[in-house]
Amino acid sequence: MVASLVMYLAALIPLQNNSHIVNEPYYQLPRFWTNTGFCPYGEIKRESLKSSLFSESVQMNLMHLAALPTGALTHIRIHWLLELVKFIQYTQAGVPVYDFSDLDEFILNLNDLGLYPVIEFMTDLDGILISNSDIMNDIWEDFSYQVTKRYLNLLGAKNLVKWRFETWNEPDIHNYNILNFTVEGFIEYAMALRKGIKSAGRMSNKPLDLTLRGPAGLFKSKRNHPLCWSLIKSCNDQINDCPINVLTYHRKGQGLATEVLEASSKLLKNIYANYDNIKMLPVSNDEADPITGWSTPQDFYEDVRYATKLVYIVFLHWHAKLNYREFKYLETISHDNAFISYHPFEFAQRTLLAHFRMNNSQPVHSQFIQKPVYAALSMLSKLAPVAADIEVIALSSPNDVLWLLKTSSTGNKPLYVSWLLLPRENTEKLENFTLHRQLPFKSGSVETFAFVVELLEQKKTDPAYIWRTQARSRPFPDAMERAAMRYAQTPRLQASGLLLMPEFSLNISGLQLPWILLFRVCSNLSPVLKQPEAPTITKITIGEIFISWREAANTTNCLKTYEVWFQVNQTAEWSFISENWHLPYPSFQYAPINACVNGFFKVRAIDFFNRKSNFSDAIEYIEMSV
Ligand SMILES: *[C@@H]1O[C@H](CO)[C@@H](O)[C@H](O)[C@H]1NC(C)=O
Ligand SMILES: *[C@@H]1O[C@H](CO)[C@@H](O)[C@H](O)[C@H]1NC(C)=O
Ligand SMILES: *[C@@H]1O[C@H](CO)[C@@H](O)[C@H](O)[C@H]1NC(C)=O
Ligand SMILES: *[C@@H]1O[C@H](CO)[C@@H](O)[C@H](O)[C@H]1NC(C)=O
Ligand SMILES: *[C@@H]1O[C@H](CO)[C@@H](O)[C@H](O)[C@H]1NC(C)=O
Ligand SMILES: *[C@@H]1O[C@H](CO)[C@@H](O)[C@H](O)[C@H]1NC(C)=O
Ligand SMILES: *[C@@H]1O[C@H](CO)[C@@H](O)[C@H](O)[C@H]1NC(C)=O
Repeated sequence: MVASLVMYLAALIPLQNNSHIVNEPYYQLPRFWTNTGFCPYGEIKRESLKSSLFSESVQMNLMHLAALPTGALTHIRIHWLLELVKFIQYTQAGVPVYDFSDLDEFILNLNDLGLYPVIEFMTDLDGILISNSDIMNDIWEDFSYQVTKRYLNLLGAKNLVKWRFETWNEPDIHNYNILNFTVEGFIEYAMALRKGIKSAGRMSNKPLDLTLRGPAGLFKSKRNHPLCWSLIKSCNDQINDCPINVLTYHRKGQGLATEVLEASSKLLKNIYANYDNIKMLPVSNDEADPITGWSTPQDFYEDVRYATKLVYIVFLHWHAKLNYREFKYLETISHDNAFISYHPFEFAQRTLLAHFRMNNSQPVHSQFIQKPVYAALSMLSKLAPVAADIEVIALSSPNDVLWLLKTSSTGNKPLYVSWLLLPRENTEKLENFTLHRQLPFKSGSVETFAFVVELLEQKKTDPAYIWRTQARSRPFPDAMERAAMRYAQTPRLQASGLLLMPEFSLNISGLQLPWILLFRVCSNLSPVLKQPEAPTITKITIGEIFISWREAANTTNCLKTYEVWFQVNQTAEWSFISENWHLPYPSFQYAPINACVNGFFKVRAIDFFNRKSNFSDAIEYIEMSV
């Protein structure tokens, strides 16, 4: 608790003596938005959840999430995950013995993908809770201990400190509260979890202070939502006995990003007005989406509009954290958008990817197209470690307003500047303009600077638009149509080159609204990019593969694009198969027309100065026939 407080306070102190920054306070920019979640489809029964979580489409979806640039997504919150644990028997001492093998498999895969779970303690534990209701709390304490201890042993302390543990999702909602928690029962359950997790943490070689979050509540009226309100009341009454270290809640908008922040602000003010003692608890809106109902189709989910809403939500929370008391202790927000869309709403649900279930092909398989919101997460991952407050740029017409987030490297690291710019939410018309800016550096004789401008633009970097116009919204787009959509799924490389003067000027005229622009500058003193790890190749269908590779953290700021190379056999020439593709993320779907995908693959990274990294090791792919 104390440690995290210090961290949040420190984060809000403007940084001084920063040679890269002039005239304006900059602050540490915590990556508070790198979280997602979903609920697996199917009945809340172990076998059904198991087949859902291990299905090809869920696994492939996770693979895409993991193929974002490093750090774009770090945590994934999955309802009912612990239902995968099976009760076997009691020991003679009466301690439950569980079979963790399915959970192990899921967790180890997640770990390989570089994603951390948010473990929600929501499971009926095969019915043993209900049949032993008198010792429910002992079972929870032991279970949370067993889960935590197990993965501490398997994955190590360094990994486990990044995990998040949370109480039951939205416990006041009857569909979730399948155990019929009472107010007392719920608080005792949270206390039991906290004890179990804590004692597991103490078993580490170097004791870990593992914490619990909760109550993941909707916090509607106190009468209708007694569980989450009672939990915070009990924390307020006895702060030292409070089972949670981070207060989690859910607030969404009615379609607008600004409404997410307003709803959140209202709730937090209400909480603090009544429960003053918990005002220093870090808070997290772990479902901070523009509108409720992930599956309810919305036009804006299809294209750059959702991408901009997500970026607005992040911008608004950054501004609020710096300026509004009730957001001072904001720890994180999460987007609940790791779902898998279904026909006929391929693009129109709250997802990062569009999903096509190719029932017409042999074998039936899933095709995923990355939506602009996926690209937006990747752009956000390219921000630098410190940031100024959001700058509002007013153009000559009063309705024309742009938002700019300026971020920078610090201290004596080679200069890296990253700016994210977009028109205000729901801007319908924008005058033509050229943005002029002084940049925070001096040209020297040794140091030179290069820049890259990338753009997400409605109807241009917009796979849904291509699907609607070129593929006539067909449920089974063909290979050419899928390739056309994939061409449009990454930001467009708008401009790049050397910066001769510390000035930046960009003519942004006639762009389709909405759009998001990322402008980055790198110094030639930054090291040549690291050699990427050898790629992983996943079969999509016959003659089609998904190639992805891991990036080392914080080494790819100056990445312009990746190149993917292929050779049929070890004596054949290497060919540059991603030529003409802008690939700012570590993945590439390869589906050559009339050619075989058997052979060797390797990748390399190109930076702003067109310096090439070493090639990764080559990896061989041999197609299995069905
Ligand atoms: C919870 O209550 C519902 C409705 O009253 C009932 O159907 C269900 O069996 C109860 N569940 C448990 C675990 O007691
Ligand atoms: C990468 O940078 C972020 C933000 O600056 C920082 O929080 C994180 O610890 C860094 N990670 C590594 C592996 O250096
Ligand atoms: C494909 O088949 C599944 C299972 O029968 C069905 O749910 C889905 O709607 C079908 N998809 C399309 C695009 O027809
Ligand atoms: C900006 O670009 C537009 C179209 O690309 C052009 O018509 C206009 O003259 C340019 N403005 C300036 C100031 O160069
Ligand atoms: C802005 O520029 C675009 C492209 O050059 C042009 O089509 C459009 O008419 C211009 N709009 C205004 C308001 O001048
Ligand atoms: C390797 O591929 C080349 C080009 O397709 C082909 O000409 C050659 O025969 C192949 N060599 C072997 C050993 O298969
Ligand atoms: C590239 O590989 C060469 C030869 O193995 C090695 O000497 C060099 O350090 C590598 N460069 C980078 C940037 O990793």
